[in-house]
Amino acid sequence: MTAKKGGDSSTATTRKIYTSDKEMTPEYRKTLVQMMESQAYRELAAGQMFGYGLQYVPELKWVKFITWHIREEVEHYEAVCKMYKSFTGQSVEPMVNARLREKPVPFAQSWYELAMAQFLYDRGGFWQLREYEECSFLPYRECVQKIVKEEKGHQELGERIVVELSGTGRFDDVKQPMFEKWFKLGMLSFGRPATAGNKYAIEQGLKKRDSGEVMQDFLTDIKPAVKACGVRFPDPKAIGLEVPAGLDWSL
Ligand SMILES: [Fe+2]
Ligand SMILES: [Fe+2]
Repeated sequence: MTAKKGGDSSTATTRKIYTSDKEMTPEYRKTLVQMMESQAYRELAAGQMFGYGLQYVPELKWVKFITWHIREEVEHYEAVCKMYKSFTGQSVEPMVNARLREKPVPFAQSWYELAMAQFLYDRGGFWQLREYEECSFLPYRECVQKIVKEEKGHQELGERIVVELSGTGRFDDVKQPMFEKWFKLGMLSFGRPATAGNKYAIEQGLKKRDSGEVMQDFLTDIKPAVKACGVRFPDPKAIGLEVPAGLDWSL
C-alpha cells in the first residue's frame, strides 16, 4: 500500500500500514485514539452549531442547505463513532458529550455569523482532515476519505453568503470582529504547530505534515474571500493564536 502523490513526505512508501491494533506500540495506539476522539468531537460540535443556527436561516432554500449540512455532520460523527467502537470496543459518545460540556463550540447568533462559521470553521475542519487522507491506520484513512469527499460539498456556500452579505455594507461594524472570532476557531482545528505530538504523528504516517503547513494552505485558500469581504487578517498574537514564523499573510 503506497501513499498518493503530493503533500506527503518521502518516507510515505516505506511506512508501516496497520489494519488492526496488532503490532501497534502503545504510543501509536494512544495517538490514534486521541485523533479519533478529536474528530468525533469536531463532527458533533459542527452538527450542534449548525443545528443551533437554523433559527437564523432566512429562506427555505438555505434552510434546506443547512439541514442537509447538519445531517452530513451527524453522519460523519456516526462514521467516527463506529470506527472508534470497532477499534476500542467502547463508545466514544460519553467522552464527546463531556468534552462538549466542558468546551462547547460557540454558537452563531445571526445569519451572517452562521455563514461566517460555515465558511471558516467548516473550512478549517476540511483542511485538517486532508492531513489524514493517507493515514497509516487503514480504517481511519478510509473513513476520512469518505468524509473529505462530502466536506468538499460544504465549501462554497458559506463563503458565497458571507461575501454577498459583506458587500451590502450592513455588516461593516461587525464583520472584522466576527471574522477574527471564526478565523481563530478555524485555525485552532489544526492544533498547535511544531509539537512533539505532531512530529510523532508525522513520523508514524498518521498525518502528512505539521500543523503550521496546514495553516498556510488554509490561509491561502481563504484569501480571495477575505479580500472580497473587506476584512483583514488579525495579528495572531492579539487573538491568542500560536502560529509558526514565516506564514504568508499577504492579501
Ligand atoms: Fe464533517
Ligand atoms: Fe463540514
